[in-house]
Amino acid sequence: MTFNILLVGAGEINFGSVEGPWNHSRRLESKLGLALCIVGIVDPYQTRANAALEGKLASDAAPAYVSCKVFSTVAEAAASLAGELLPQLAIVGAPPFARGSDIPGKDLELQLAIAFPGCALFVEKPVSSDHVDGCWRVAAEFEKRRVLVGVGYMLRYSKAVQMMKQIIKENNLAVMGTNARYVMAYEWARKLSWWNKDSSGGPIVEQATHFCDLSRYFGGDVVLPSVSAQIVAHDEVPGVLSAKRFDESLVPPEKRLPRMTSATWKYASGAVGTLTHVIALHGTTYDTEFEVYADGYRLKLIDPYGSAPVLSIRRPGVVGEGPACDHNIVTNMRQDDPFYTELSTMIDVVSESGGNVRSKILSPYEDAVKTYELTWQIRRAGENSERQFSARISYPQ
Ligand SMILES: NC(=O)c1ccc[n+]([C@@H]2O[C@H](COP(=O)([O-])OP(=O)(O)OC[C@H]3O[C@@H](n4cnc5c(N)ncnc54)[C@H](O)[C@@H]3O)[C@@H](O)[C@H]2O)c1
Repeated sequence: MTFNILLVGAGEINFGSVEGPWNHSRRLESKLGLALCIVGIVDPYQTRANAALEGKLASDAAPAYVSCKVFSTVAEAAASLAGELLPQLAIVGAPPFARGSDIPGKDLELQLAIAFPGCALFVEKPVSSDHVDGCWRVAAEFEKRRVLVGVGYMLRYSKAVQMMKQIIKENNLAVMGTNARYVMAYEWARKLSWWNKDSSGGPIVEQATHFCDLSRYFGGDVVLPSVSAQIVAHDEVPGVLSAKRFDESLVPPEKRLPRMTSATWKYASGAVGTLTHVIALHGTTYDTEFEVYADGYRLKLIDPYGSAPVLSIRRPGVVGEGPACDHNIVTNMRQDDPFYTELSTMIDVVSESGGNVRSKILSPYEDAVKTYELTWQIRRAGENSERQFSARISYPQ
């Protein structure tokens, strides 16, 4: 029995990058082995898609790609794939500007849902780069068509995050607050489009989105009007970056990225969320931490993206264990690959279908739209504060 997959986007998320551990095709190969059948690669950038396919056909994974065809659009794929070559799962690794809406040209997932009824979708984050309203219309359409959709917030699938969830559940804890801190090493970030908030969405919508999502995973729904944020803008004295390896003057000033964003909000539960995102470090190593607080507990996840994340748990001591009334337990989470787990879960759910298997998808589409909403709220709150601030203050030149 084969498992048919359509890859949408022949870029870094699907075929790997020197910048990070993401590489969906490699995880699919290791999950499914000889059962994997990649039926097609859709990408308007045909040279790139052909090069990706040629690379695979020259590798050990070749058997999974012998039936694979390259298409420039979903319509072309739909016209060619039928019968035994119909995809069971499409991995949507195209840029967010091509999806998350029902507007032609930005409606990739809807095109897939219509062209291949019954095919499940795995969609990358963020769900869009367009208005949130469009995402809600897409979510409603998925619901109507009963499309199975998972979104690539892979940190939810990490062992450390699941361990934190379990501690909260087992101890019946009410989350009091979350604190996410993401300090980026920018020296080698040279894609000009990333430094333009019109094309990338900006550092919160595009990058801190993983931490906003984790915050919501633990804190629940956010009261959006409660979000407040301050930023350090690119043209403020503290925002000068000395190690850029690209020419920022090619990005119009009003589209350049803030260097620091500091945001807070209330969750509907009454808990408080905090996010600090900074573009400051040189070199290549990021500094990231995510904390959850509850009565007697501080759960701290250090470097969740790294090859050896650390989970530090401070919890109340156990009676009889000595004078200390607290306990600190540090666990190294090596050998965990949440990218693998998220895809493996998707494949298992598609294979099992029926019953309650959908609940195994930890990042359903509507939930990811709420994360998208939060990131935009933070971005706008930061921009509004900055407008008010610069109307009042002028800096020495
Ligand atoms: N989860 C993670 O940690 C993670 C890591 C990397 C990227 N991503 C996400 O994956 C997505 C893609 O990122 P990337 O780094 O692979 O980008 P990329 O630019 O390397 O590749 C995207 C590819 O999609 C193609 N494309 C554009 N429009 C298309 C369309 N309508 N149909 C099909 N293909 C189309 C482009 O030609 C390009 O080849 C982004 O949303 C990004 O945020 C997630």
